[in-house]
Amino acid sequence: MSLRDLLTMRPPVPSLRGRRVLITGAAGGIGRATAAAAAAEGAQLILTDIAADALDVAVAELVADGGEVAFHRAGDVADHAWVQRFADQVTAEVGVLDVVMNVAGVSAWGTVENLDHERWRRMIDINLMGPIHIIECFVPQMVRGGRGGQLVNVSSAAGLLAFPWHAAYSASKFGVRGLSEVLRYDLRRHRIGVSLVCPGAVATPLVETVDIAGIDRDNPKIRRAVGRFHDRAVSSEQAAEAILNGVRRNHFLVFTSPDVRFGYWVSRKWALPYEIAMRAANDQFDRLARAVTASETV
Ligand SMILES: NC(=O)c1ccc[n+]([C@@H]2O[C@H](COP(=O)([O-])OP(=O)(O)OC[C@H]3O[C@@H](n4cnc5c(N)ncnc54)[C@H](O)[C@@H]3O)[C@@H](O)[C@H]2O)c1
Repeated sequence: MSLRDLLTMRPPVPSLRGRRVLITGAAGGIGRATAAAAAAEGAQLILTDIAADALDVAVAELVADGGEVAFHRAGDVADHAWVQRFADQVTAEVGVLDVVMNVAGVSAWGTVENLDHERWRRMIDINLMGPIHIIECFVPQMVRGGRGGQLVNVSSAAGLLAFPWHAAYSASKFGVRGLSEVLRYDLRRHRIGVSLVCPGAVATPLVETVDIAGIDRDNPKIRRAVGRFHDRAVSSEQAAEAILNGVRRNHFLVFTSPDVRFGYWVSRKWALPYEIAMRAANDQFDRLARAVTASETV
C-alpha cells in the first residue's frame, strides 16, 4: 500500500444506483426502511427475513413503488446451512454483490439471575452468528470479484456502551463491533468499506417486542418507561437515511441520533463521568424492577 492509500480511500459505493444490495431483516423496521430508501436510489435489491409473509408484503410494496427486487427468499440467518444455500442461489441468479447489509436482529434484556441459557444463545446465534454467516457466505466472492463494495453491520448503542441489563444483547453487539473493526482494515486492500451502524432508539416493532427476562412488559411502570424510550426515538426512515449516507461516504461509525454519538464520545474522553452515569442508570433500572415486582405482589 502506498502512503496515499494508507491515508485516504475513495468511497467504494458513492451511489447505490444499479448496485446489487443485500439486506437482511428486510421485512420490518430499519431493514425495510433501508430497502425502500435504497430502491428509491435505484439499487437492485436482494432481500431476506425470517418472517416469510411480511417479506412478501414488503417486496410487493417495494415493487409497486417502482423498486427493483432482483431476488428475495425467507430464511433464518442463524442457520448456516440455509445461508449457504441462499448465497448459492443469489450468486447463480443475480451475481456477486456490491453492498451487504446485516440488519436482522432481536433483543432480550435481563439481569444475570434472570437471563436463561436460551436467551443468551438466541442473542449470539441471531445477532452475532447471523452476520458472520452472511459475511462468510457473501464477502469472499466480493473479494475475489475485485470490484470493491461496502459491508454494513448494524450493531447498537449497546455495542458501544454498557447499558443496564444488556449483557446478552451487548455480548452480541460488541461482537459485531469487534469483527467490523477488524474487517474494516482487512477489507480495505480490496476496496471494500465497512460501516458499523450504532442506532440509539428507533421506533420499530423491536421496541415493542424486546423481551425483558423476569419482567412483565405489560406492567404500567414498564409501559411508561417504554413510552419514554419511544419519545426519544427517531423513525426507521431517518435511520435508513443515516445508513445510506454512511455507505455513500464510507463512514465507519454510523450514528442514527446525536445522543449515541455524544455518549460514545463521553465514554472515551471522560471515563469517570461515564462510569458514574452507568452506575446511576443501573440504579434506576434496579429501582424500576423493585417497584414492578412490588406492584405485582400486592
Ligand atoms: N429499534 C431500535 O431501537 C434499535 C436500536 C439499536 C439497534 N437496533 C438493531 O437494528 C436492527 C434492526 O432492528 P429493528 O429495530 O428494525 O427491528 P425489527 O424487529 O423491526 O426488525 C428486525 C427484522 O429482523 C428479522 N429477523 C429476526 N430474526 C431473524 C432471523 N433469525 N433471521 C432473519 N431475519 C430475522 C425480523 O423478522 C424483523 O423483520 C437489529 O439488529 C437491532 O438489534 C435497533
